[in-house]
Amino acid sequence: MKPGMIVLKTRREIETMRVVNLIVAEILDRLGEAVRPGTTTGELDKLADKMIFRAGAKAAFKGYRMRNQKPYPAAICSSVNDEIVHGIPGPRILKEGDIVGVDVGVIYKGFVGDAARTYPVGEVSDQAKKLLKITRESLYKGIEQAVTGNRLQDISAAVQGHVETNGFAVVRDFVGHGIGRKMHELPQIPNYTGVGWNPRLEVGMTLALEPMVNEGTWRVKLLDDEWTAVTADGKLSAHFEHSVAITDNGPFVLSEP
Ligand code: MF3
Ligand code: CO
Repeated sequence: MKPGMIVLKTRREIETMRVVNLIVAEILDRLGEAVRPGTTTGELDKLADKMIFRAGAKAAFKGYRMRNQKPYPAAICSSVNDEIVHGIPGPRILKEGDIVGVDVGVIYKGFVGDAARTYPVGEVSDQAKKLLKITRESLYKGIEQAVTGNRLQDISAAVQGHVETNGFAVVRDFVGHGIGRKMHELPQIPNYTGVGWNPRLEVGMTLALEPMVNEGTWRVKLLDDEWTAVTADGKLSAHFEHSVAITDNGPFVLSEP
C-alpha cells in the first residue's frame, strides 16, 4: 500500500463523530439483547434498520461496494461461527453455542460511525469464550497504542502480540481503516506488522480498529454470495471494532457507550 492523505478532524468534527458512534453503540447494545437461541440474523438486521431510521440516520453498509463485488444488501453484517466478517443477514437461526459477530455502520450529519462486537448465543464452549475475550482484549491493546508519538504499526503489533501469545491467529485479508466523512479512509490498519505504510499518529486522526481473530488458520475463503468471508479450516472467528479518535488526552473511543 502506498502512503496518501490522512484526513485530520477538528475537535468539532470529532464531537459529531462521537454522536454518530453513540447511535452505533446503542444499536449494538440493543442487538446484543436480541441475540439468543431462535433469533434469526435477518431479525437483527430489521431491528437495526428501524433504529437507524428512528435516529434520522442512514445505514452506511447498505449499497456499499468494494472491489467488484455486488452492492452490500443489508444494514448490518452478521457473521456466525466460522464466518469472519461481512456475513449477510437472512433466515439463519441462531442456536445455543453459536457466536455471532454483529457489525453496524451509520451515516449521520455527514460522518460515518462503525463498530462491531461478537456475542455468544446462550452458553458457549470455553474455547469460544476465550476467543471472544482475547479478541476484545486485543482491540483494547490496540486502542492503548493510539496515541501521538507512536506509529500506526504500534497498534498492529499490540493486537497481533496479544492474539498470538494466546495461540490464535490474526486475519490478514481484512484490515482496519481511517474513518470520517467516508467509511473507508486512509490509513489501512493491518492487525499484523511488517507490511505497508507506518505513519506517525497525530491528533485528529480517526481510526476504526477491528481485529478479526481466528481459532485456527488465518487463511480465509470467500463464499459464493461474494461477501461472506469464512475461515479456510472451518474453525471459529471473532471480530470486535471501535472507532477511535486520537486526541491530546489520548485515545477517545467514540463508539464506546
Ligand atoms: N466494519 C466493516 C468494514 O469496515 C464493515 C463493512 S461492510 C460493507 O469494512 F458492506 F459496508 F462493506
Ligand atoms: Co470497519
